[in-house]
Amino acid sequence: MGKIRVAVAGVGNCASSLIQGVSHYRTLGNENTEKSLGLMHYSLGGYRPDDIEFVAAFDIDKRKVGKHISEAIFSDPNCTKTISGNIEKSPVVVSMGKVLDGVSAHMQDYPENRRFAVARTRPCDVLKVLRESRSDILLNYLPVGSDKATAFYADACLNTGVSLINCVPVFIASDKGWARKFQKKRIPVIGDDVKSQIGATIIHRMLTKLFEDRGIKFDNTYQLNVGGNTDFLNMLNRHRLKSKKISKTEAVQSQLHIPLNNEHIHIGPSDYIPWLKDNKVCFLRMEGRGFGNIPINLELRLSVEDSPNSAGVVIDAIRCCKIARDRRVGGVLISPSAYFMKHPLIQFPDETARDMVEDFIKGNIER
Ligand SMILES: NC(=O)c1ccc[n+]([C@@H]2O[C@H](COP(=O)([O-])OP(=O)(O)OC[C@H]3O[C@@H](n4cnc5c(N)ncnc54)[C@H](O)[C@@H]3O)[C@@H](O)[C@H]2O)c1
Repeated sequence: MGKIRVAVAGVGNCASSLIQGVSHYRTLGNENTEKSLGLMHYSLGGYRPDDIEFVAAFDIDKRKVGKHISEAIFSDPNCTKTISGNIEKSPVVVSMGKVLDGVSAHMQDYPENRRFAVARTRPCDVLKVLRESRSDILLNYLPVGSDKATAFYADACLNTGVSLINCVPVFIASDKGWARKFQKKRIPVIGDDVKSQIGATIIHRMLTKLFEDRGIKFDNTYQLNVGGNTDFLNMLNRHRLKSKKISKTEAVQSQLHIPLNNEHIHIGPSDYIPWLKDNKVCFLRMEGRGFGNIPINLELRLSVEDSPNSAGVVIDAIRCCKIARDRRVGGVLISPSAYFMKHPLIQFPDETARDMVEDFIKGNIER
């Protein structure tokens, strides 16, 4: 099998965990070792974690641009837990991207080690970097609310034949217009908004389905999330949250035959608590009525390191995307998008989506 050449837009915490994780699994090797736990697949369609190579990276932060990617991932304001501090030096240097709407003005009110700080460097030629690095796939890890910047990188993919894995809640793979463009050029795309390994969304979806399957009349629910990374700081700007709220809410509503009235469901990022760093805490409540109309309430608190939680899913999305490229299959990858993303083009229950992904890997279904 060949290597999978990956470019990254946004060298933040998610990119850091993924790059460290690939290095970690490379040094462990062998699927039979207990140490390689933490993955949904060690070998996926013949590709192992160490077949992933990071060949290009774009950012706009002065502490990352111009640095080797292996150093940039440990630079402020990144704050996720270290998986592997001793990773091999990468020859790849972070290129200056186009800022567009990537940086929210309110960040200026926070200390520099906590926020983005834009480099005074001319943007690179993104198309040239993607071509020269012979990237197969671009991972979009831009901040929530980067609508224009995401469209810019999606266009760059269309112009270079590079696949896109859109980890953020800006609708590309789930937008019929963009989906058609990727289909027309036969470029695989997976999106939108990564659904973490054991995150608030998959738990909320599973419990919602459980309520429904067990005949509970579901009345009210909320999901409140807090954290202390730049993702949470960025999301203090409520104007940037429209599609994030849609993505997270539809992920749960899609599990119900009759969706809840908007007044009875509240899901969203709720506050920024600096000392939590990349630890995200989710408070979830579900209220319903069971047999004989008798009330049942469920409260759950989930505490997770946010960024490795997303990397555990993206490491499989990358390999599914490469399989599609090898098979010359283009357009939206329906099954991987349904299982790996919160806001896919078509929603399926998670167990169904999981079976679909396994069938996709085996080659039994095309997309
Ligand atoms: N579990 C998770 O962590 C999770 C789950 C779902 C979705 N996401 C989404 O993934 C995205 C990345 O998350 P993160 O925690 O790595 O965020 P982050 O804030 O740590 O990183 C964002 C990076 O993008 C850079 N950036 C800003 N504008 C840019 C531009 N125009 N071009 C290039 N780079 C630019 C910033 O400098 C920063 O390095 C966010 O949108 C987040 O909501 C994360």
